[in-house]
Amino acid sequence: MQTVKFRKLIDGDREDYEFLEECEITYASQVGARLLETLEKLESAMSGFQVTRLEHCLQTATRAWRDGADTDWVVSALLHDIGDIHSPYDHDEYAALILRPFVREQCTWTVKQHGEFQKFYYAKQMGKDPNTRERHRDNPYFDDCVEFCECWDQQAFDPEYQSLPLDFFRPHVAEVFARAPYNEAVIRPGARKPLVDQRVAKLRLQAA
Ligand SMILES: [Fe+2]
Ligand SMILES: [Fe+2]
Repeated sequence: MQTVKFRKLIDGDREDYEFLEECEITYASQVGARLLETLEKLESAMSGFQVTRLEHCLQTATRAWRDGADTDWVVSALLHDIGDIHSPYDHDEYAALILRPFVREQCTWTVKQHGEFQKFYYAKQMGKDPNTRERHRDNPYFDDCVEFCECWDQQAFDPEYQSLPLDFFRPHVAEVFARAPYNEAVIRPGARKPLVDQRVAKLRLQAA
């Protein structure tokens, strides 16, 4: 296997660093495939719910798909809990960091904050404040995160729901992570796309 010549960074020459740059680009281009492998491992992540963590993610993404959501939303919904495996105490931020270069800022922000917004549904039962999300009230994406949690995330614990399989979402994940990172036309700071598109939802229902 070809490698660089140096053993300390300071000794590398241009040829070494151009070679490494190519290696990095090739490796980064496979991130979508690696994320799908990690998603599969969610099947055996934390238990206790009536559905596995993988099923929860599939159910969240399926609900997004059936609501007519666009690819950025669907892939964000699919990956929103991928941090459960390696970052259980910051799982929302972990997922947001993965998504940030490749989806709309609106989706990244929603995924980053979803952990706090989900508390609205269970914190009271634990004697805690369910409304800490209010500190984000002035954020332009506040309502999007409320809707993400209300319509997709907090509902996705139903063992009888018929989720689409992971294979269905593979092309969507591949599409998102094949994008050029931090492309302004993708990130679109400040832009808000509705989570629900009734017209698209109807078309998808008819095609199913
Ligand atoms: Fe979560
Ligand atoms: Fe979730």
